Amino acid sequence: MTTNNAPIKFAYWVPNVSGGLVISSIEQRTSWDIDYNRKLAQIAEKAGFDYALSQIRFTAGYGADNQHESVSFSHALLAATEKLKVIAALLPGPWNPALAAKQIATISQLTNARVAVNIVSGWFRGEFHAIGEPWLDHDERYRRSEEFINALRGTWTQESFTFKGDFYRFNDYSLKPKPLEPLPEIFQGGSSRAARDMAARVSDWYFTNGNTPDGLTAQVNDIKAKEKTFGKNWRTKIGINAFGIVRQTEKEAKDVLQEILDKAIPEAVGGFHHEVQNAGNASPEREGNWAKSTFQDLVQYNDGFRTNLIGTPQQVAERVIELKRAGADLILLGFLHFQEEVEYFGKHVIPLVRELEASRSPRVQAAE
Ligand SMILES: Cc1cc2nc3c(=O)[nH]c(=O)nc-3n(C[C@H](O)[C@H](O)[C@H](O)COP(=O)(O)O)c2cc1C
Repeated sequence: MTTNNAPIKFAYWVPNVSGGLVISSIEQRTSWDIDYNRKLAQIAEKAGFDYALSQIRFTAGYGADNQHESVSFSHALLAATEKLKVIAALLPGPWNPALAAKQIATISQLTNARVAVNIVSGWFRGEFHAIGEPWLDHDERYRRSEEFINALRGTWTQESFTFKGDFYRFNDYSLKPKPLEPLPEIFQGGSSRAARDMAARVSDWYFTNGNTPDGLTAQVNDIKAKEKTFGKNWRTKIGINAFGIVRQTEKEAKDVLQEILDKAIPEAVGGFHHEVQNAGNASPEREGNWAKSTFQDLVQYNDGFRTNLIGTPQQVAERVIELKRAGADLILLGFLHFQEEVEYFGKHVIPLVRELEASRSPRVQAAE
């Protein structure tokens, strides 16, 4: 695997949903409220984080009793920051692409092009039922998401946009104003065959659940091969989820992981496991997110422990470099105590990553 030479990027999960990022009764000094989140975004941009990713959830479940909406919340964070890019989750179904394209174009205009989107395809059947949205089969959800992405890009780039899809239609539509350049980047979440194919056809970024470097490389190679088959003329960039536990000693970090697991809430993890079978396991080839997740993996919603960014700053920085070599362009991080740990990560891990990247720069590698 050839290493991408650009500095690896860092993103954090916006805690706009209550209960934090682990299904555990361990103390989490994290709040889902706007004041906490504005301050967190300011800390993150100072700490060297490039992106924040907001989540969309319409109903409670598995420890997420309250959920702020992703687009309006993302805009509030953009208004409170200067450099940070904020990725707003959009769920086709509840959103239609005409409204989404318009909302995001306006936010781009208001925030100097710092908004991006994450197209998610739905994993929570109960949520769709609660808001009266039809629950499509797994691969149909992706067919709809792909039309959604084509519609966003079409309205953002074409003067007069016409589109005749199975899910969406546009007739000589002219969106004005367009978003500012660079256009909002289009991320997507999911790991199934359908998710990888959609990434290889239309997305700018592919977000996947936590994994090992080898597990990541397999996905990257698959997407690259598919890009060629589909004739995509730009490279899909790769983001991987991780739950970061960085402490002065490895023992301290491992003890924190053990405490999270010891205090896991079994009924909630079990319920979540049952529900995600509607997503990760419902894909025909059974390779989606969560298809192979254990109880322990699911204590973190997106398998974040599997990425193993758990240890000292040096260990974690080295593992970030391994992930970069495995094909990652971006690491998406969750933490127990977001404000404190985003700051710590920026102070102690990111500089080590930058040193390691510099020592592995093409000039140095050529000399080796
Ligand atoms: C990084 C990441 C972020 C996601 N964010 C959301 C979200 O905010 N809301 C949501 O409903 N699903 C979210 N998802 C779920 C995916 O869109 C998708 O439904 C799920 O991963 C199952 O897809 P698969 O079966 O194709 O693997 C996210 C997934 C990933 C990897």
